[in-house]
Amino acid sequence: MPGTAPWWRSAVIYQVYIRSFADGNGDGIGDIAGIRSRLPYLKSLGVDALWINPWYKSPMADHGYDVADYRAIDPLFGTVAEAEQLIEEAHGHGIRIIPDMVPNHTSDRHAWFQAALAAGPGSPERERYVFRPGRGPDGALPPNDWVSSFGGPAWTRLPDGEWYLHLFAPQQPDLNWQHPEVRAEFESVLRFWFARGVDGFRIDVAHGLIKHPELPDLPPRPAGVGRRRQHLDHPHWDRDEVHEIYRAWRKVADEFPGDRCFVAEAWADTPERLAAYVRADGLHTAFNFDFLMSRWDPKDLRAVIDDSLAMLGAVGAPATWVLSNHDVMRHVSRYGRSAARRWVANERYEPEGPLDLELGTRRARAAALLMLALPGGAYVYQGEELGLPEVEDLPDSVLQDPVWERSGHTDRGRDGCRVPIPWSGRTAPYGFSPEDASAAPWLPQPADWAARTVEAQSGDPTSMLELYRTALRRRREHPALGDGTLTWLDAPAGVLAFRRDPGFVCVVNLSAEPYPLPAHTEILLSGEPVEDGLLGPDQAVWLAV
Ligand code: NOJ
Ligand code: CA
Repeated sequence: MPGTAPWWRSAVIYQVYIRSFADGNGDGIGDIAGIRSRLPYLKSLGVDALWINPWYKSPMADHGYDVADYRAIDPLFGTVAEAEQLIEEAHGHGIRIIPDMVPNHTSDRHAWFQAALAAGPGSPERERYVFRPGRGPDGALPPNDWVSSFGGPAWTRLPDGEWYLHLFAPQQPDLNWQHPEVRAEFESVLRFWFARGVDGFRIDVAHGLIKHPELPDLPPRPAGVGRRRQHLDHPHWDRDEVHEIYRAWRKVADEFPGDRCFVAEAWADTPERLAAYVRADGLHTAFNFDFLMSRWDPKDLRAVIDDSLAMLGAVGAPATWVLSNHDVMRHVSRYGRSAARRWVANERYEPEGPLDLELGTRRARAAALLMLALPGGAYVYQGEELGLPEVEDLPDSVLQDPVWERSGHTDRGRDGCRVPIPWSGRTAPYGFSPEDASAAPWLPQPADWAARTVEAQSGDPTSMLELYRTALRRRREHPALGDGTLTWLDAPAGVLAFRRDPGFVCVVNLSAEPYPLPAHTEILLSGEPVEDGLLGPDQAVWLAV
């Protein structure tokens, strides 16, 4: 981008779910060697940076979100030396690297938790985590009624009688962020990786680090009212004291040359609450989950866009737009269902009705053009540029997400959006692993993905991949796109039309009727061919005006 604004205000960041991106050594699991081999692809796609899901040493109870050593790379993925090579090579292609940082919890195999277990109740080692006696006679009841995001209670009892807190799986004990050693350790870990050249971090569960000091029971939830747009004082989500941690992290980032950047995974109830994470002395950006959770509905989308731009603009932060990630059903499959229910923060999306893949794909193409034309930055989840749908028919026997077990087999979890990427060829593993691989991909790929590979879509002007490539190229070249502001244009209720200066208009038709394009000098890009100047239902277009 021209000008002097830092890169992250306009960046398109590609999310690499490392296990499923590319397997370099043939064990069926993606790795750093695989990412390195695909840098030319990422360069040709035209992304500015990679967010890489956790690559640290981990027993993989939650695929790397259970970190045993923050200064080591898991042998499944490679070594610290390989990570350094990746950073250097990516930089050579003009691509920045943003690893994931997981500060809310460690693995139960982390040296600190092992020491806490060994040292016993009342020991200073236990103070780095959240250990408590139980309630009720003999302390047999958990200390409070908090629940794990993966199902079941958020507490596990040890043989010595004490309970420890885990907002996620029992293998992910929550750290005590009131403890100065915890704060110092993470600042040191950030420096370790900044010194190795990373350009920033995505912060896992950024809204969860601070717990109410008294650990009270959950507040009653007002009957019949969704949490959306109504912030409740919650004992462990989005507490005000969390921002002090990020002010300190910002200072650490600012110690290093270049523009380093944090992006918060913060599920906040309102745009105001989200904006608090990205004040000038705090984190740089935060994922906009309101956009991801919005229905394919013009009124909802416009409200989300307006609220986000207003609240983030008020604190001087850019918006970031996201449609999919490794935790939610892929958007082709969300949008391909007509009756999508409203979905609220910190709850899981439940699909409704049968999937219309053709409809979902058409809407996904329009959504991509909408997202990439909005002011600010955007995230692309690996495979979204291939139009991959959610894999909804994985056999029970292959499911690996801890959610499946923890929910007592009621929630099939997130494996369906984590299936390894198809690169080439007619049959699995579709180039995900090398020819002489010793193992099949860690999750089976559908038999009908031959037409969805990078190879099959490359050069086909009607493919999702070429739509993304062209959109990213135009976005880079057009001075109106990226950071900035938008002006809504008059349009019927079912149509979103906005102008970006200089000389750019995006129109998205969410109505059932064709919509005549406004005056323009050129069609820069359209999701589908535009006939007779009419934009069809569920279609989007970029115009020069
Ligand atoms: C959010 C991550 O995106 C998700 O994959 C993970 O399971 C939880 N945080 C716990 O770390
Ligand atoms: Ca591998």
